Amino acid sequence: MALTPELRTQAKWKEIAGIPLGAATVDNWNQIQAFRAKPDDLLICTYPKSGTTWIQEIVDMIEQNGDVEKCQRDVIEHRHPFIEWARPPHPDYPGTHYVDQAGLELTEVSNEMPSPRILKTHLSTQLLPPSFWTSNCKFLYVARNAKDCMVSYYHFYRMNQVLPDPGTWDEYFETFISGKVYWGSWFDHVRGWWEIRDRYQILFLFYEDMKRDPKREIQKVMQFMGKNLDEAVLDRIVQETSFERMKENPMTNRSTVPKSLLDQSISPFMRKGTVGDWKNHFTVAQNEKFDEIYRQKMKGTSINFCMEL
Ligand code: A3P
Repeated sequence: MALTPELRTQAKWKEIAGIPLGAATVDNWNQIQAFRAKPDDLLICTYPKSGTTWIQEIVDMIEQNGDVEKCQRDVIEHRHPFIEWARPPHPDYPGTHYVDQAGLELTEVSNEMPSPRILKTHLSTQLLPPSFWTSNCKFLYVARNAKDCMVSYYHFYRMNQVLPDPGTWDEYFETFISGKVYWGSWFDHVRGWWEIRDRYQILFLFYEDMKRDPKREIQKVMQFMGKNLDEAVLDRIVQETSFERMKENPMTNRSTVPKSLLDQSISPFMRKGTVGDWKNHFTVAQNEKFDEIYRQKMKGTSINFCMEL
């Protein structure tokens, strides 16, 4: 059942430590926090709209040694449990193999997945279940420049029928800056993960680098995963994980998700996949304001983003 515009406007999240999260996630918070990470887990970590689906497909292709058919075994959102995700059951979209009756993906069932497990999260370092810090597992973080991330999230909010209506671009601009979007502030998220990158086994990648030189970045992921694939396989992975291929691929383009959840006639999930689309959205005044806020919020950090290719 689609939400009416009125209901969308009223759709409410709940918060943990001031960070908006889906209500079902918050309702199952104790269980999520009790998740038992294992030393051979690989956790894919991103702020929403930073190229999560892209890195998931890359990781799966590497894991399957470049076997395209094996990567077609299921839609991408069901191949890797999304550890904090929970939602009420939807009749047209049953969820993953790991989902429990409450709609929670992260359960004892996912604890029974064969190792090495590949998992996904959008949680900030502050909210991650504590066992991840003591398990010595691997983290693969992908960061995307804040402006493109914000634009991508805006269009995702518009098409995602179970998120609150983002309002106009100008309204959403303020919401994003204030961090009152699902999974919270981009600034805190990226800073948090960047600052601990040398203390844990973290491969920190940038969306913009993946666009510029996908083969080099895929090689880094391969080495991080302890795999050794030959040149021809690597080239196949580069090709199969291009924006154009993933946009056509029903296993990655979310076309199997009912329109009542994701309305791709409003904006496609695989939308543009470029660096610098923010220039088509930000006014000059918004750009100046954003740059000033960015300076304040990211002060003292050494992270550097590429804003155009
Ligand atoms: P745009 O909205 O800017 O097009 P996530 O998977 O974290 O939700 O991120 C979605 C964003 O990643 C979308 O950005 C989507 O188009 C982009 N994306 C997905 N696959 C991609 C690929 N193979 N190459 C480049 N961008 C990709």
